[in-house]
Amino acid sequence: MAIKLLEDLPGVGPATAEKLRDAGFNSVETVAVASPGELVAAAEVGEATASKIIAAAREAAEIGGFETGDRILERRRQVGKVTTGSHSFDELLGGGMETQAIVELYGEFGSGKTQVAHQLAINTQLPKEMGGLGGSAIIIDTENTFRPERIAQMVRGLPPGPDGETWDPEEFLKNISVARAFNSNHQILLAESAMDLAEKVKDSEKPVRLLIVDSVTAHFRAEYVGRGTLADRQQKLNKHLHDLMRFADLNNALILVTNQVMAKPDTFFGDPTKPVGGHVLGHTATFRLYLRKSKGEKRIARLVDSPNLPDGEAVFTVTTEGVKD
Ligand code: GTP
Ligand code: MG
Repeated sequence: MAIKLLEDLPGVGPATAEKLRDAGFNSVETVAVASPGELVAAAEVGEATASKIIAAAREAAEIGGFETGDRILERRRQVGKVTTGSHSFDELLGGGMETQAIVELYGEFGSGKTQVAHQLAINTQLPKEMGGLGGSAIIIDTENTFRPERIAQMVRGLPPGPDGETWDPEEFLKNISVARAFNSNHQILLAESAMDLAEKVKDSEKPVRLLIVDSVTAHFRAEYVGRGTLADRQQKLNKHLHDLMRFADLNNALILVTNQVMAKPDTFFGDPTKPVGGHVLGHTATFRLYLRKSKGEKRIARLVDSPNLPDGEAVFTVTTEGVKD
């Protein structure tokens, strides 16, 4: 029997399934990547049962152990690329921002992080022939900077569709789900609920292909002040980033996170030009882009680390119509 539902797993009855879902384990895949301790806490089962459930889920989901190179290649074949709206920016990224990856935009205030995020929430919805992913977007907004009016402006700035059609801002807004995060714990919880939301629309016309966290570090920075709390903060941030990476893998989605670096020296966190989150973010993010302001509408993106692309820079603009060359 093919295992599809939680209830299909040995040792999982309706009551246990219910408890698992309440705790955010809403699919066989999420159970497969859980630890026995997490399941014990979530479903009030014994350690041995938890291990058995996880083993069965891993087998069913075919995740957990080593994978052969050809399987990885198969999964990598599903990777989609979404346009930024600027050819030069896309070129820097080898054709656009990739799914199954975390892209970190870091830079000073006004460098264009939120603008790029808004543009990607739109472009993700475009058909593939226009550099889109034909999907929907989720935004975790920690700074209250999401602006539907800005989305509408940018949609009006899109080039016409393949059949010359114009685009309706309302339609785009319907496919962007936004939640405000009030503190870092709330932010972590919202990333877990995003998983539920994505699971629900997985087989719909608009599966979630983009999850934005803008900003991923602001709450952590505000709440964990002082050297003594650094380890704590990094541990929490690390867990959050791993949740996000799991989201990217399970949903073939792009994770776009922003991270402000301050112009003003910040004595607590050392070098002011280094992004907050330091090593934790650096090691988890697949692509790191440093954005900075240039003259007028011009912005410069520098690709800092990438697994398979040369470092380099691209110039793009943030205009009223959106991100352009
Ligand atoms: P923080 O969140 O403060 O760290 O900054 P950020 O990097 O997110 O900056 P954001 O993306 O919000 O960029 C704001 C800048 O984008 C503004 O200063 C403008 O230069 C530009 N911008 C925003 N809206 C418009 C617009 O409608 N037209 C034009 N031409 N530029 C805009
Ligand atoms: Mg911003």
